[in-house]
Amino acid sequence: MHGTRIPQRKRLRLLIGDITRVAADAIVNAANSRLAGGGGVDGAIHRAGGPGIMRELDEIRARQGGCPTGSAVATSAGNLPAQFVFHAVGPVYRGGRAREAELLASCYRTCLEMAEERGLKKISFPSISTGAYRYPVDEAAEVALRAVAAHLTRENTRVEEVLFVLFDKATYDSYARVLKQLEY
Ligand code: APR
Repeated sequence: MHGTRIPQRKRLRLLIGDITRVAADAIVNAANSRLAGGGGVDGAIHRAGGPGIMRELDEIRARQGGCPTGSAVATSAGNLPAQFVFHAVGPVYRGGRAREAELLASCYRTCLEMAEERGLKKISFPSISTGAYRYPVDEAAEVALRAVAAHLTRENTRVEEVLFVLFDKATYDSYARVLKQLEY
């Protein structure tokens, strides 16, 4: 079991699977800054969640014109096994010198703060930015796991469980390797 430096109650877990099939209080989407839907996990979330999610995003877009990279917006979760979807906008990878790591970490931190604000216990993440946005998986895994572990080791967190639901074995193996190296 991973998690030796994290208090017993507060877990960070890695799974292989489809994030739309795993129950959580909030499911995180890897969205784009137009909040316009797309392929990958974004497409899967809209397909499984139903059209109400896009209607809420339309309202958010009308109000604030999208979502900046590194940030996230919340909608309800429609038919998904969750209360909320947090639509996080990861950076497109452009070689690593365009603040990608900072922006990617900010996605995870923002979603964890949104979970705290709502008193949520369980949140699930996909591997943000490592598909269409081409972030190298090993690098993204380190940023993601460090950001989440830092949050879970905080004194005042109410989040009890963070799941990474990774779609393929190569991505899972990469996260597992990095998690082991970080010795959490
Ligand atoms: N469950 C979990 N993970 C999934 C699922 C799923 N159902 N479907 C795909 N993934 C994985 C991909 O295999 C990849 O490892 O999610 C990871 C992120 O890939 P993308 O979904 O392509 O996300 P990202 O790289 O952040 O690109 C975002 O893609 O479709 C668009 O609208 C989206 O423009 C945005 C861009």
